[in-house]
Amino acid sequence: ENRPKAVIVIFGATGDLAKRKLFISIYRLFLSQKIDEDFAVVGVGRRPWSNHEFRETVMKSIQSSDQSQNDINSFLSHFYYHQFDVLEPSSYLELGTLLTNMDEHYSIPGNRIFYLAMAPEFFGTIAKQLKEQGLTNTNGWSRLVIEKPFGHDLPSAIELNKEIREAFTENQIYRIDHYLGKEMVQNIEVIRFANAMFEPLWNNRFISNIQITSSEVLGVEDRGRYYENSGALKDMLQNHMLQIVSLLAMEPPIKLTTEEIRSEKVKVFKALRKIDENEIKNYFVRGQYVEGTVQGNQVPSYRDEDNVDPNSQTETFVAGKLFIDNFRWAGVPFYIRTGKRMALKSTKIIVQFSDIPMNLYYNTKEQMTPNLLIIHIQPDEGITLQLNAKRSDAESYTKPIQLTFNNNCVDCINTPEAYERLIYDCMLGDGTNFTHWDEVKYSWSFVDVISQAWTNNLAPLTTYESGSMGPKESDSLLATDGHNWWPVSDLLNDNKD
Ligand code: BG6
Repeated sequence: ENRPKAVIVIFGATGDLAKRKLFISIYRLFLSQKIDEDFAVVGVGRRPWSNHEFRETVMKSIQSSDQSQNDINSFLSHFYYHQFDVLEPSSYLELGTLLTNMDEHYSIPGNRIFYLAMAPEFFGTIAKQLKEQGLTNTNGWSRLVIEKPFGHDLPSAIELNKEIREAFTENQIYRIDHYLGKEMVQNIEVIRFANAMFEPLWNNRFISNIQITSSEVLGVEDRGRYYENSGALKDMLQNHMLQIVSLLAMEPPIKLTTEEIRSEKVKVFKALRKIDENEIKNYFVRGQYVEGTVQGNQVPSYRDEDNVDPNSQTETFVAGKLFIDNFRWAGVPFYIRTGKRMALKSTKIIVQFSDIPMNLYYNTKEQMTPNLLIIHIQPDEGITLQLNAKRSDAESYTKPIQLTFNNNCVDCINTPEAYERLIYDCMLGDGTNFTHWDEVKYSWSFVDVISQAWTNNLAPLTTYESGSMGPKESDSLLATDGHNWWPVSDLLNDNKD
């Protein structure tokens, strides 16, 4: 069944995520005929909206795409709004009746996606009520999609998971990490396992280090309240960055099933070296942006942003040195960094291969550059392989050359497509690109130590100028190992000699 039929219930339908990502993603699935014409989207929220008001909001979110009014109107006719009080059991009963009507109206066999895109403190309550009030008791399937954050540390994640598991089985739970929906993140597995030339070298004998950068230009925007309690560590590293690490580091699964891939990823999470609290300062750098110029615009310090404490200790940047203690990766540092208000928006993986055993060109003026495999995740998508070749002007000199594949993306900001893919996967019942509980559990236990060390002030909070690539301490982290961050310039500009 490639054209699933379902009612999608969005909790938090008046919120930011729904407006920015979800409606447009469902619209694209509709246009590409991936979802059956018989579907419904029920928006649930506190505001007393009518279906008409809801449809107007949805229309605004999808308007930028140049589609015919007919398509838009027929799409909008599938949207319904239900005013709702999370704590009120009768709200669920009314919702249940509405869903049954939808099933009848669109001949949907009771398939339901409950998408929680709202304040996480209600995730547990909603899950429980959905079950208790019978909304998951249909002839079809029920699935729960949960946005992050999944807890704010290990104990809270365990608690949340317990509550949710009382109502839904692990197979029914789809924990979203939208990075797993990105084209080039999904490509990591294929690049590694569909090519003869990488896997034999993919280990500590031939890889010197791996660098993962996810830099953003935007500041904290209007999310100060959320971000103050989160910071870059919990907002980006615990989930997106560690997921990328696990895909880069996992062993080849014996089959491409959800279970096999998950179990390989989980082993990576388990093998992440736990650093002693007192040593954290040698492995992780935290920074906060101060005012500066980002892409030509003067921007304020983090502490001057809305809903941010003027003495805030929240980090907007984190760089770390990770080790995976297993046979394949022993001794290979994985350097990761992510931050807001940096020089450019860029997510890239750079695999630096080890130096050749003997440098025949040692006496040349040009230093030999190591071989690099660069995976460009966003905004440009592609792969660059950096090799050394002969210079044409001076015979025995070498020069780095780059072989580049540019995965011509359509609009080059692929987040909506990521959501589009993940929603479709969920409709098909494919949980591969979602986060399993074990991954959440191990990633929190890894991150909690860092967070605790910072709370205990065992590492300084550094600052960095907006528009830079982070604090200088982030460079020192690599310099002590004799390495440096490779530039993360645009794919098409990488080619300059
Ligand atoms: C989200 C974070 O998960 O990812 C945001 O909460 C961040 O703070 C965003 O801006 C980055 O996603 P993307 O797809 O733009 O790289």
